[in-house]
Amino acid sequence: MGKKVALVTGGTGGIGSAICHELATQGFTVVAGYNSGGNHEKAQKWKAEQAEQGFDIDVAYGDVSDPDSSEQCVSGILEKHGSIDVLVNNAGITRDSTFRKMTLEQWDEVMNANLRSVFNMTRLCINPMLESKWGRVINISSVNGQKGQFGQTNYAAAKAGMHGFTKSLAQEVAAKGITVNTISPGYVLTSMVAAIGDEILDKIASTIPVGRLGQPEEIACAVAYLSSEPAGFITGSNLAINGGQHMF
Ligand code: CAA
Repeated sequence: MGKKVALVTGGTGGIGSAICHELATQGFTVVAGYNSGGNHEKAQKWKAEQAEQGFDIDVAYGDVSDPDSSEQCVSGILEKHGSIDVLVNNAGITRDSTFRKMTLEQWDEVMNANLRSVFNMTRLCINPMLESKWGRVINISSVNGQKGQFGQTNYAAAKAGMHGFTKSLAQEVAAKGITVNTISPGYVLTSMVAAIGDEILDKIASTIPVGRLGQPEEIACAVAYLSSEPAGFITGSNLAINGGQHMF
């Protein structure tokens, strides 16, 4: 049998890149999904940079918030690589604002990119997984989907929604060799978190018992484990990786 194929949406971003590296290291053929506002040049540059570091990672364009674009993305990968055995729904955005100031557009953008996307992409990948009787769906949520966050009613709602999705789909496909899990990262050193602003970020960092922000690799290793054969008994679960910021 050939190598298993993993698709990581938002694969060229901070956590996404680390996930791609780790899955490639574990022997998967890896495809990084990207949107980047349709900036294909940027994605090709990213691909070349990975190659320089010794990682042969393919890239595939797709706007995961859009069903048609998602379909084109997935069908292109299936045609080229033959299967998608691991789907990591990692793509996500923030449009932080206090609720009083939040616009419908900010709400919709986040719900579509962070939650509708999970429906769009998983719907397209699940039938081939069912046919091959093996699959891994890993949804990247957030500590803020569990504890809430000032300024993130939209983001926290979308990320919390992932848990209900995960637990429901996990039950539907458990008997068919497919696991569905959620990982909830805390504050990890990426450009998304860096954009918060130093003063607010320092305040948030002071609430993390481990005493620092997370590293993308610390999320990536967990994704690799959930993608592995020995993780076949873990399904419908959520793995919190947040430096102790939220314990329950
Ligand atoms: N709790 C209570 N009150 C708070 C507060 C908090 N955490 N933060 C700010 N306030 C207060 C301020 O003191 C101020 O009060 P006054 O009006 O009495 O002076 C008021 O709220 C500010 O309200 P504004 O609507 O004017 O807020 P703003 O526009 O200045 O900023 C914000 C709002 C953009 C949401 C800003 O608070 C912010 O960036 N917060 C951080 C949000 C955050 O953590 N985002 C995570 C991004 S990373 C990520 O999402 C990855 C992941 O999964 C972890």
